[in-house]
Amino acid sequence: MRPRVRHVRGEIEMAEVDIIDGKAFAAKLRGRIADAVSEMKSDHNVIPGLAVVLVGEDPASQVYVRNKNKATVKAGMNGFEHVLPMDTGQEELLALIGTLNGDDAVHGILVQLPLPDQIDEQAVIDAISPDKDADGFHVVNTGRLATGGDAIVPCTPLGCLMMLKDRMGDLSGKEAVIVGRSNIVGKPMAHLLLDANCTVTICHSRTADLPEVCRRADILVAAVGRAEMVRGDWVKPGAIVIDVGINRVPKPGEEGKTRLVGDVAFAEAKAVAGAITPVPGGVGPMTIACLLANTVTAACRQHGIAPPEF
Ligand code: GUN
Repeated sequence: MRPRVRHVRGEIEMAEVDIIDGKAFAAKLRGRIADAVSEMKSDHNVIPGLAVVLVGEDPASQVYVRNKNKATVKAGMNGFEHVLPMDTGQEELLALIGTLNGDDAVHGILVQLPLPDQIDEQAVIDAISPDKDADGFHVVNTGRLATGGDAIVPCTPLGCLMMLKDRMGDLSGKEAVIVGRSNIVGKPMAHLLLDANCTVTICHSRTADLPEVCRRADILVAAVGRAEMVRGDWVKPGAIVIDVGINRVPKPGEEGKTRLVGDVAFAEAKAVAGAITPVPGGVGPMTIACLLANTVTAACRQHGIAPPEF
C-alpha cells in the first residue's frame, strides 16, 4: 500500500490520493473476457451464453438488465433476455428457470432482483442450477465460497477484490473492515478477504463504536446502502477505501434534481485515504464485467475447459 505521508528532503508532504478508475479497470477486464470468448469459439466451438430474466417494469431494473445484455453481446457471448409481466406467478417463473437450466446454449442465468411480492425470491434462487448461477447467490455457491471450494463468486465483491489486488498486490496480514453484512456483498467479501489472508471484521448496525473499528482498517469496504455514512475521520491515513454504495440523493440547490453518492463521504475520505473508489465510476462498472467473467467461468466448467484467470 502506498503511504499517504511522504518524506521529501526532510519535509513531510501528503501524497496524492489515488482515485481508482473502475470504469477503465472494467473496460480492460471486458477486453480480456472478449479474448477468452474468442478463444473458446475457435478452440472449442463453445459460445458462452447468459440468460437474464426481468419480472415487471421497475425502471432501474430495466436499465440494469439492458446494460447486462448489451455488455454480454459486446463481449462476443450470446445474450438471452426474458422480460415477464409484473403479475407473473411463481410457478411460471420457476418453469422458465427449469427450461433455462436444461438449455445447453445457456451457461449462466441471472434473475434480476428484487422480484414482485407474489414471488418467493429464495425459492427462485434455489431453483437456478448452481453450475449456471451467474450471480453466485445459490447456497451451493455460498457454501463453496465459505469452505474454499470452486464457487461462482458474487459479482460485486469479486470486482472489489480484483481492484484491491491490482492496487495492493499481496493482501496478507492487512486489516480489512467491511461495513455491511448482506448476503450479496458483505458476507462474500469477508470470505474473499479471509482467503486472501486478511484479518477481517464485519460491522453492522449494532457494532459498538463503528468509527473506531473503521479507523483500524488498511482496507475499508463500505456496503451499507446509507448515503455518505462513512465519514473522513473514520478512515485511517493511507487506507484503501472501496465504496460499494449507490444512493440517489437530492442535488443541493437544484430543485427536483438528484445525484448519485456512495456510502462514503467522498470529499472527506479522499483527503485521508491512500486510494478510493468514486461513485459513480468505481465499483459499479466492475459488477457487470464480473458477471461476464462468471459466465465464461461457468461455460468453461460445463464444457470441461480450464477456466481463464481473470
Ligand atoms: N439487483 C441489484 N443488484 C443485483 C445483482 O447483482 N444481481 C441480481 N440478480 N439482481 C440485482
